[in-house]
Amino acid sequence: MRLGVSGLFWVVVPPSALHRERGAADVRFMDAAVDVRFMDATPIPSHEAVFGGDLLKSAERGIPFVDLRSQNDLVRAEVHRRWELAIDVGTFVLGVDVERFEEEAAAALGVAHCVGLGNGTDAVEVALRAAGVGAGDEVVVPAFTFAGSAVGIVRCGARPVFVDVEEDTLLVDPAGVEAAIGPATAAVVAVHLYGQMADMQALERICATHGVALVEDGAQSHGARGHGAPMAARSLAAATSFYPTKNLGAWGDGGAVLTNDAGIASAARTIRNYGSMEKYDHGRFGFNSRLDVLQAAVLRAKLPHLGDWNSQRSQAAQRYYEMLRGCPAVRLPTVRAHNEHAWHLYSVQVPEREGCRRALADEMIGSGVHYPTPLHLLPMFQDGDPSTMFGRLPVAEAAADRVLSLPLYPGITAAQQERVAEVLVSWAEALRLRTGR
Ligand SMILES: Cc1ncc(COP(=O)(O)O)c(C=O)c1O
Repeated sequence: MRLGVSGLFWVVVPPSALHRERGAADVRFMDAAVDVRFMDATPIPSHEAVFGGDLLKSAERGIPFVDLRSQNDLVRAEVHRRWELAIDVGTFVLGVDVERFEEEAAAALGVAHCVGLGNGTDAVEVALRAAGVGAGDEVVVPAFTFAGSAVGIVRCGARPVFVDVEEDTLLVDPAGVEAAIGPATAAVVAVHLYGQMADMQALERICATHGVALVEDGAQSHGARGHGAPMAARSLAAATSFYPTKNLGAWGDGGAVLTNDAGIASAARTIRNYGSMEKYDHGRFGFNSRLDVLQAAVLRAKLPHLGDWNSQRSQAAQRYYEMLRGCPAVRLPTVRAHNEHAWHLYSVQVPEREGCRRALADEMIGSGVHYPTPLHLLPMFQDGDPSTMFGRLPVAEAAADRVLSLPLYPGITAAQQERVAEVLVSWAEALRLRTGR
């Protein structure tokens, strides 16, 4: 089974079999979920056609969309040591490791307080609740992001108001945010898509002018900066996720609220623990969203490597830029001026995306789509007639048809990236010959 680890293992191996495998293959399979749907929707080549009859050799050539092995190998021994200690101590929820992680993460990410939570979606909800958002409120949020950005809004009892994104960066458009603010608006959620910070200076100004809270969704942006400022520097709080594939990822679910406001931190600590600071004294509404000791131990072991891993991501992004800038069919990501991008994802835009994915898949190269449907068109968020929703947020809708995330992770080699670029360039040439584009 280990032979099927790279790139396209989902083509030839039933998911049920993969889930029985342990370790990195599982993790990468999770992130390849989009690819599974893509493969389902398209006639797939036979096993022979994909692997040329030589499974071992071909699987070695494959390039997965995400590969966590080099990160995991680096921290494996330390995590085992910490887990042994945790088992001896016997406190598994909100223990000393969680407290130490919160202190270390706050210092590393440049904020005063880090409050560890169960996942990033909860973090959005907890940050908004701590900011006083509740039933009847409206919260402005970009439509082009992961559903988790808006689920936290709905769970507060508030209504998400979706706005469009900037054409070049696909980050929330501050002008659209300002136009969407009305009498019921309580907060704005800025999303740092793909690891790059939204225009926090403009958003801070707009929110201050209109007296609404500004909260960040930094699930993808550990270590990113805008004009030198980290997450939570220009807002009430930033929510983040430690989902395994994130720049700082646990070996399970995890999340946090980051803030420089002691009142918000204290409220978040209360909300994550059933609204109580003292046992059975439930002073406010809360629920259970506590980071556990085993995940905190993984995160503590990984945290010192975050800077190096982000540099490796940045180098890999620079390499893609050099390799693909001469290929007009592939639109490369734009970095905002004065931004330090954390490169969680390297998402290009291409015409006829499914054909392009297919060309990569045929060469055993994994890819992802972040995201195929903007949130205002997802049934889970629709409160009106879907047919009238189309065309309302044209940039997000067009981007959803074109975005394609290429393999990018700490440890990806220049040779692997060259292979990805080679396949893209020849796909683009075939497209040009066929369509003239
Ligand atoms: C932008 C964004 N917001 C929110 C979330 C939700 O985080 P989690 O999966 O930890 O709940 C994610 C994670 O996938 C995300 O990418």
